[in-house]
Amino acid sequence: MAGRKLTIEELGVDPLNDQAEASKSSSAVSNSLNPISTKVESDSVSQDPADHRPGRLYAIADIHLSFPTNREALEKLGQDGQHKSDGLILCGDIGETHDHLELGFRIATQRFRTVWWCPGNHELYTMPVTDASADASVARGEAKYDECVRIARQYGVLTPEDPFVMWEGEGGPVVVTPIFTLYDYSFRPDNVSLDEAVDWARETDVEATDEHLLHFEPYTSRQDWCNVLVSKFHQRLSEAQATHPGVPMVIANHWPLRQDLVYLRHIPRFSIWCGTTLTSNWHKEFEAKVVVSGHLHIRRTDWKDGTRFEESSLGYPRQWKDCMDMGMDINGFLREILPGPPAPEGGNAPTLWRRCDQASYNPAELFVKKPKTSSGIT
Ligand SMILES: [Fe+2]
Ligand SMILES: [Fe+2]
Repeated sequence: MAGRKLTIEELGVDPLNDQAEASKSSSAVSNSLNPISTKVESDSVSQDPADHRPGRLYAIADIHLSFPTNREALEKLGQDGQHKSDGLILCGDIGETHDHLELGFRIATQRFRTVWWCPGNHELYTMPVTDASADASVARGEAKYDECVRIARQYGVLTPEDPFVMWEGEGGPVVVTPIFTLYDYSFRPDNVSLDEAVDWARETDVEATDEHLLHFEPYTSRQDWCNVLVSKFHQRLSEAQATHPGVPMVIANHWPLRQDLVYLRHIPRFSIWCGTTLTSNWHKEFEAKVVVSGHLHIRRTDWKDGTRFEESSLGYPRQWKDCMDMGMDINGFLREILPGPPAPEGGNAPTLWRRCDQASYNPAELFVKKPKTSSGIT
């Protein structure tokens, strides 16, 4: 499919054009981040004393609000007020457009005390301009990312560009560090060179939509952008560690930090768009208590070296339809990051694959049939 023009349907996106009643004015909170602050600012929290119990920290990724079903599902997120004292990490792939981000941030900040966000590949897409989306952003690469950060700040959502703050709810204190590292095609076999990587994936009819819509200006390539980001966030994490010695971190990144957390049974070569080996040891280097990710649309929990890794995706409607059919709504997909379970003895444990009931299941049952292209995931 190299070089072939993709349609909106093939991209798996359905540009939001009729339900974007995201009312910035009614729900937005001021972005009063203090560069020297190390604690969550009070502007983004409820002033009701009853809401000030310590609170828990949750995460969800890949809510993909281009899909009407997911937009409807989002309305139920914390709608009973049960998370007013809690924190939420939105771990990328909220959607492609400003409207998607505004909707996601509006609901999340209404229902949770503090909200963090890190970008996914879908936020970075520059969508094709059509008559129906004539006012869509034409920003590309880093400029599109910058637009997303500005929108997040309008809602008081903490981004990778903001100071990392302390979480002192249940399971804390920890420093919550949303980061952005992209990928560099290094999740590939040793006998495949960087230059050959994309063609190697295409040999199996696998190609990420990113190759068409995720631009890398002003950098020379996606891997060049990735290298810059890895250096930047390694420095940021080092500084946070020095500022808070002995305080563990919760690292949130859309892409998995480690290649051994990527298992794509029917499209294994899609791995090249799933992260960078440069971050493989960050959980140990930065003493992460939990690492949160998304992107794979395959929920799983792993323990490595005493760190818990949580793939926290919701995914496309067809990917959680079986759970919907069982009566599960979006609240069932919130992953509890903190306090969470105690670490297993020795710090390592077999992968816990999660489906509707949050229990372990066989990953071989994940895919009923092989997708024709890779654009069906992430
Ligand atoms: Fe993704
Ligand atoms: Fe996704």
